[in-house]
Amino acid sequence: MYKSFYNLQRNPFEITPDPSFLFPTTRHNEALASLYYGVTAHRGFVVLTGEVGTGKTLILRSLLGLLQRRDVAFALIFNPTLSPLEFMRYIAGDFGLPVTGKAKDELIHVLNGFLLQRHQKGLTTILVVDEAHHLSPEILEEIRLLTNLETSQQKLLQIVLAGQPELDQKLDSHELRQLKQRIALRCHLDALSLNETREYMGRRLQIAGAPAAGEIFSGPAIEAVFRHSRGIPRLVNTVCENALLSGYAKHAATITPEIIDGVARDLRLGVVAVEQKNSGARLSKEQEQSELLLAVKTLLEVRDRMQEAETKGRLQ
Ligand SMILES: Nc1ncnc2c1ncn2[C@@H]1O[C@H](COP(=O)(O)OP(=O)(O)OP(=O)(O)O)[C@@H](O)[C@H]1O
Ligand SMILES: [Mg+2]
Repeated sequence: MYKSFYNLQRNPFEITPDPSFLFPTTRHNEALASLYYGVTAHRGFVVLTGEVGTGKTLILRSLLGLLQRRDVAFALIFNPTLSPLEFMRYIAGDFGLPVTGKAKDELIHVLNGFLLQRHQKGLTTILVVDEAHHLSPEILEEIRLLTNLETSQQKLLQIVLAGQPELDQKLDSHELRQLKQRIALRCHLDALSLNETREYMGRRLQIAGAPAAGEIFSGPAIEAVFRHSRGIPRLVNTVCENALLSGYAKHAATITPEIIDGVARDLRLGVVAVEQKNSGARLSKEQEQSELLLAVKTLLEVRDRMQEAETKGRLQ
């Protein structure tokens, strides 16, 4: 809707994880490189964690995109709330193996044969589990058994788990210490800094065909996006997408901080931030200050509205 108004060829801030929009921050780059190395060097078991909306699924998709250029077979699980039997069936089925009527032991046997064959041909086989923080202890135990499929030199199945920070807590638990010892590489994604947010927005606008990315969002508007999103890429996208819609409706050629504040209010982003504060999430000094400023601003607005209402009341 707003594309022609802002001279864009595509929507810059879609929330689907599209690898063609990947902006390589140092941490995203490191995560992608670690996963790629872990898998191609047959290290066995690698784990990627990060807060909600920081780019885990995007990194997995980028990894699979890179690996498709090599002769790699993978099974991808993104709904890990399965029973152990369903889990094994799903994996074997994704590799194109016969699964109907087979018990779990038989499935593991078939899978082992398949992995050995691929290994003898020098080929890599991967199991990728997204949203792995939802995995039950039973499935994690199945995964531990899968890490046992190996020759004397190498793991036959490369396993990548990606999930929210609760996954780290699960893997740190006493009962999963055997699995934890098998993790060869661990990487973590964080929110973006202010500078990264600025570059991230610029890159997305540039890919979407903006003639001069810096001119659509003013400097203070970018700071407001950072303040409200706390640098979390999915929230940056949501705020910016809504700001472009709102700017278009107002015929604003440049997105101002006021437009961003309005959008953030409508999205109730401040409410989420307060909840997270209460739940003990740590904010940087910069983020704390901007939240304080926002709170003061909101209070002043409320005061103005009350005064306005009072004056109106007196006049009536
Ligand atoms: N480095 C990046 N470059 C470009 N876009 C990014 C980057 N990081 C995240 N995004 C974008 O942010 C949004 C959220 O990313 P993604 O869905 O991968 O997050 P997630 O960590 O998997 O979230 P969840 O915990 O909810 O599963 C997507 O639109 C994605 O494209
Ligand atoms: Mg995800």
